[in-house]
Amino acid sequence: MKLKIECLSAGYDKDFVIKDLSLSVNQGEFLSLLGPSGCGKTTLMKAVAGILPAQGGRILLDGEDITSLPIHKRGTVIVFQDMRLFPHMTVEENVAFPLKMQGVSRSGRLEQARDLLEKVQMGGFLDRRPSELSGGQQQRAALARALAARPRLLLLDEPFSALDENLREDMRNLVLQLQREFHMTVVLVTHDREEALSMSDRIALMFSGRLVQTGTPKEVYLRPESRLAADYFGDCVYINGTVSGGRFTGGGLDCPVPFLSQEFISQAIPFPADAPVPGPSVPDGPCRLMLRPGSLEPDRTGGYFLTVEQVSFRGGSVLVSLRSDDGDLWKKAFSGPVDLAPGDRIQASVRTQDGVLFPA
Ligand SMILES: Nc1ncnc2c1ncn2[C@@H]1O[C@H](COP(=O)(O)OP(=O)(O)OP(=O)(O)O)[C@@H](O)[C@H]1O
Ligand SMILES: [Mg+2]
Repeated sequence: MKLKIECLSAGYDKDFVIKDLSLSVNQGEFLSLLGPSGCGKTTLMKAVAGILPAQGGRILLDGEDITSLPIHKRGTVIVFQDMRLFPHMTVEENVAFPLKMQGVSRSGRLEQARDLLEKVQMGGFLDRRPSELSGGQQQRAALARALAARPRLLLLDEPFSALDENLREDMRNLVLQLQREFHMTVVLVTHDREEALSMSDRIALMFSGRLVQTGTPKEVYLRPESRLAADYFGDCVYINGTVSGGRFTGGGLDCPVPFLSQEFISQAIPFPADAPVPGPSVPDGPCRLMLRPGSLEPDRTGGYFLTVEQVSFRGGSVLVSLRSDDGDLWKKAFSGPVDLAPGDRIQASVRTQDGVLFPA
């Protein structure tokens, strides 16, 4: 089922939380919606599900305008952040409920419910009431209930937030497996960047009620169009420098100009509105080169020198703060034991071709 959101506005009372937002999610696609707390992710999910009325724009499912359809006619299911199971029903009855609505026989729906509850590792809690479950157990029962409905569009609003890392990994795999099996279109709201990067076909990044970038995980991580998007995925190093004759120099680096961010293109290159797509010619002037720690590699033959400032043990990895001789700070995680101490000198090379150019 293809979801198309066109210029949607929604909010509470007269305040718009989201305004003129457009987004498409293809049939069978897994899209993660990421963004800081309060930016409007849940509001968008509620508007798509029909819990909150749209105050402008349209929502289309497979081309059909569902903007004014009541919740139960939309064929969407949402696992809420503040999800509520039916308090008067047992866990098993809760999960069997959507199947009852679909007319599945009692024995058939209880069997499917038990099977799903087994899959979310809740097989031992069939007869409990929701009030007798922990937060994480309630979350898994709610997930099982959502999956039982076999929706063609599944909206998941932080469905794993109350789970510990091991369970979280199991539930992620389960959702991915069922998504592929039933060709569900999924929108997952999460705060967990790694979760979004690893699970999704595409990511939509939201700030203050608007989308700042949508793209594949690699595109949004490696090719951020704005500093907002770059910083959201953390650990950026911005190296001040200048562009001259198509080369970047600064911070001890000298390299051909790499990828240009949209922000650089729109601020640094004064194009007339009707000009063709910018070519490779980049105007000379000051700018900043954004790099991520993955582009820094210890290398005895490298010409980039750094001094260790801090070493912090993180269990599976060690986070090392390194200051380059030109004053740029890198925070790089090394896996396995690291024999480094503050004051140590490191020689490295930098994969400048991974860089993204931003305005100064
Ligand atoms: N029922 C409500 N009435 C009025 N304002 C609300 C209501 N629910 C949310 N808001 C406001 O709308 C804005 C967006 O909230 P929303 O719940 O969509 O954020 P979110 O992106 O889901 O955040 P989080 O990541 O913390 O869940 C916030 O400023 C919030 O305070
Ligand atoms: Mg929310």
